[in-house]
Amino acid sequence: MPKILKMDEAVFSKIAAGEVVERPASVLKELIENSIDAGATRIEIEIQGAGKILLRVSDNGTGMDREDLRLCLEPHATSKIKSIEDLDSLSTFGFRGEALAAVCAVSEVTILSSLQGESQGWRVKAQAGKIKEESPAAGTGGTTVEVRNLFFNTPARLKFLKSDEFERGRIISVIEEAALANHEVAFFLQAEGKKRLGFEAAQEGKEGEKSRIAMVLGEAVGQYLAFGEESEKSINLRLFVSTEAGLVSNRKYQHWFVNRRPIDSRLLQQALYRAFGPHILQGRHPVCVGYLEISPADFDVNVHPAKREIRFKNEGDVFNLIMRAVSRALAQSLRPQVLVKDSYLPPLRPGSHLESLALEPASSYSAPLRTAAAVSLPLGEPALSQEEDRRTPDWFTPPYRYLGQIERSYLVFEAAGGIFVLDQHAAAECVLFERYGDLLLQGRVLSERLILPVAVSLPASLVSLIMDQKKNLFDLGFEVESFGKGMIQVTATPPMLKKEKDVEEALHKIAEDFSDLKTSLAEVRRKSLATMACKAAVKAHDFLGEEEAKALLLDLSKARQARNCPHGRPTMLALNRIELARRFGRPGAIS
Ligand SMILES: Nc1ncnc2c1ncn2[C@@H]1O[C@H](COP(=O)(O)OP(=O)(O)OP(=O)(O)O)[C@@H](O)[C@H]1O
Ligand SMILES: [Mg+2]
Repeated sequence: MPKILKMDEAVFSKIAAGEVVERPASVLKELIENSIDAGATRIEIEIQGAGKILLRVSDNGTGMDREDLRLCLEPHATSKIKSIEDLDSLSTFGFRGEALAAVCAVSEVTILSSLQGESQGWRVKAQAGKIKEESPAAGTGGTTVEVRNLFFNTPARLKFLKSDEFERGRIISVIEEAALANHEVAFFLQAEGKKRLGFEAAQEGKEGEKSRIAMVLGEAVGQYLAFGEESEKSINLRLFVSTEAGLVSNRKYQHWFVNRRPIDSRLLQQALYRAFGPHILQGRHPVCVGYLEISPADFDVNVHPAKREIRFKNEGDVFNLIMRAVSRALAQSLRPQVLVKDSYLPPLRPGSHLESLALEPASSYSAPLRTAAAVSLPLGEPALSQEEDRRTPDWFTPPYRYLGQIERSYLVFEAAGGIFVLDQHAAAECVLFERYGDLLLQGRVLSERLILPVAVSLPASLVSLIMDQKKNLFDLGFEVESFGKGMIQVTATPPMLKKEKDVEEALHKIAEDFSDLKTSLAEVRRKSLATMACKAAVKAHDFLGEEEAKALLLDLSKARQARNCPHGRPTMLALNRIELARRFGRPGAIS
């Protein structure tokens, strides 16, 4: 057995440094975080040799006094934590207190710092972790950290670095992420003597955030961003997401921040994709910049030394929050855009007038529910609060008028000088689907015991499958018993299934979905809800009166996924006033 030897301090600190300082970009990330933690509103960065020769970060933050300046290079020196109790309440991620020490262990560092409002500052120079020189210097308020000859004493690390172009790319990504997370801070990058990036400080609030996102990700991306905001318990989420027209061909434009620090999370990504649904994405990807504010006690960031991965204490809450915010952002972004080619539109009815909608939603576009014997189901209440109500999308906003029903299938409205048309069946399906989904989420099953059980004949294979899935079927509102060869007896069903044929058809579909191993239970449920919504919704060729048409529109305006029915068909088509004017060759009317 070889003898155990205690590691030399210098060797140990180099190994420890390797965890935090992987490449020039990781050094820069730490320095920017420090500047932001120090309250800087302007951060200037300069690099030479892709950050290997020189990496300089100047900020206008609080600055440090002489004592702090000396201390900040020591390992485990931090101003952010004094006792173990601070760990939970710390709102920044910087609690390792080792970044500067780690950088300093593998480079030559000079820090010049002076407190705000003081003309006198101090400069320290250190190399390979040892302070070499300390001197007074003129100060302008703030801190400049200069890192030279990175990895000069760890040649293996230096060799591991990729081309200058690649390393510069990583540096730019770090600055872009910091700029997305801190829109009120100005960032500038000078690389190899040339100005490369310049993000002026943006205004506070939503518009400021949006304009910063457009500066960083490009105007083309910025113009298609919708905004969503949600909160639950101690989590707040603000999110900008591309509308359908702004989907892109790769995932590059997705950024997540927790308490303003960039993080990677499959959970958040999955929620984003789930909210869009495959029929909208069709191989394309959403742009998304999401900002989560969470109490530090509700997540753990130290799963990785580079601090990019975090673990949420309550993953389900976070997942649902993202889904809701994305869905709402998309619903609110809907504008009349789609053209109805060669469509026939009836002349305006004389005497029609602009008016607002009645506030109570009438549910008469849905088939009435039979009284549920087993479970009581208050179905009439829309799921949204008044607060959410205020954020209804523009094109749903009164005043508008109902022009009539055409083909006994489509409802035509005028809004903001344009025309939009609802497919009455698809729109009702969409509303009911969400309503039933909300009930299911609350654990309320739509089920009605039948006075006379219905016998349904099914292929033998499906009968045994259905009996295996009895418990899952119960959760969907069905109660079944086996009833001899090739038959089952249904004693309770969701109340929208009125006819024996409907019950049989629904059970067939569900059994087939259960037999397909690729279909998850969640997907089986989704499909079954879609079937219920389809059965309950008003059909094409049914007459709808004005009140019912308006009630449907009002309910649709509150839906989270208003644009498509659960089968993916559009619920509405629209022709806005600009397009109308353009089509009639009235350029003067375009404004
Ligand atoms: N640009 C700066 N302006 C003012 N103070 C700074 C600056 N950079 C560093 N400091 C001070 O130096 C301390 C040590 O910084 P360092 O980055 O090593 O650790 P930390 O930020 O506390 O934690 P972490 O290791 O997670 O980054 C900070 O806590 C802060 O007090
Ligand atoms: Mg730090």
